[in-house]
Amino acid sequence: MKPSRDAIAERAEALGPWFHNLYLDGVWTAPNHFLGDFPGIMWRRFRHALPDDLAGRSVLDIGCNSGFYCAEMKRRGAGRVVGIDSEPFYLAQARFAAEVLGHDSEFHEMSVYDVGALGERFDIVLFMGVAYHLRHPLLALDLLWEHVADDVLVFQSMQRGATDVLEPPDDMDFFDTDAFDAPGWPKLHFIEKRYAGDPTNWWAPNSACTQAMLRSAGFRPFSQPEKEVFICRRAARADGAEPVYPARVPDETASAREKKGRAA
Ligand SMILES: C[S@@+](CC[C@H](N)C(=O)[O-])C[C@H]1O[C@@H](n2cnc3c(N)ncnc32)[C@H](O)[C@@H]1O
Repeated sequence: MKPSRDAIAERAEALGPWFHNLYLDGVWTAPNHFLGDFPGIMWRRFRHALPDDLAGRSVLDIGCNSGFYCAEMKRRGAGRVVGIDSEPFYLAQARFAAEVLGHDSEFHEMSVYDVGALGERFDIVLFMGVAYHLRHPLLALDLLWEHVADDVLVFQSMQRGATDVLEPPDDMDFFDTDAFDAPGWPKLHFIEKRYAGDPTNWWAPNSACTQAMLRSAGFRPFSQPEKEVFICRRAARADGAEPVYPARVPDETASAREKKGRAA
C-alpha cells in the first residue's frame, strides 16, 4: 500500500536535509534549495540531449545523491540502474525516494575511487557534480574509463573563469610562456580553503580545462547542451593516462601479506 502524503512528508523530514528537490507524491524534499528547483532546473537544460528511449540500457550514476537522475533514467525505460554515493545519509534518501516513486534502481555505498569493485561496465555513466569535490579528479576519470564506462559519459562540473576554449597545440617551445596566460588555456583553479562554505569544493575548472581533462582521460565530448554539461563517448585516452591507484597487487604479494597478517 502506498504511504499517505502525511506519512511521506514525515519520513522525508526525518531523512533530511535534502540536496535534491524531489517531488514525492505531492511532497517536495528541498523546496528552498539555494539553486532553485535543483536538479530539475539543470536536467531541463540538458535532457533533450539524451535519448528519450533508454530501453534496456544500463546506467551507473556516480555520486547519485538522493537519486534524481536514477529516477529520470528509469522514467526513460533504462534497464539496470545503479546509483553509488560515498554518503550513506544520501543513499537512505535515495532508497526511500525510489520506494515512493516505484522504481527498482539499486543503491550502493561506494566511493568513485572504488568503482573497479563493481566488476561491470555500463552503457551510460553519469558523473555529475562530483569531480570538483574530489582531491583527485583525473584519477576518478581514469578509473571510470578503466572499469565502468562502456559508451556514453554524462559529465557536469562547476566551472569558473573564462569560457573561451583554446585548441591545444601538439607541443610548445620551452620558452613559450605567454600561452599559459591566454583566457582559453585549460585552467584548473585550486581552492585551498572554502568556496561557498563547502570545504570539499577543491577545484573550479574553466570550460577549456573540463574538456581537455575529459579528452585526456579518453572521453570525447560530442555535445555541450548546457555550459557545464558534456556528453562524451568513450574513446582512446592519452598516453600515460592510466589509474595509478588502486595499485594492482600481484597475487603472490597479496597472499604473502595475508600470511604475515595471520602470523602477527
Ligand atoms: C553536488 S552533489 C551532486 C549530486 C548529483 N550527482 C547531482 O548532479 O545532482 C555531489 C555528490 O557526490 C557525492 N560524493 C562526494 N564524493 C564522492 C566520492 N568520492 N564517491 C562517490 N560519491 C561522492 C556526495 O555525497 C554528493 O551526493
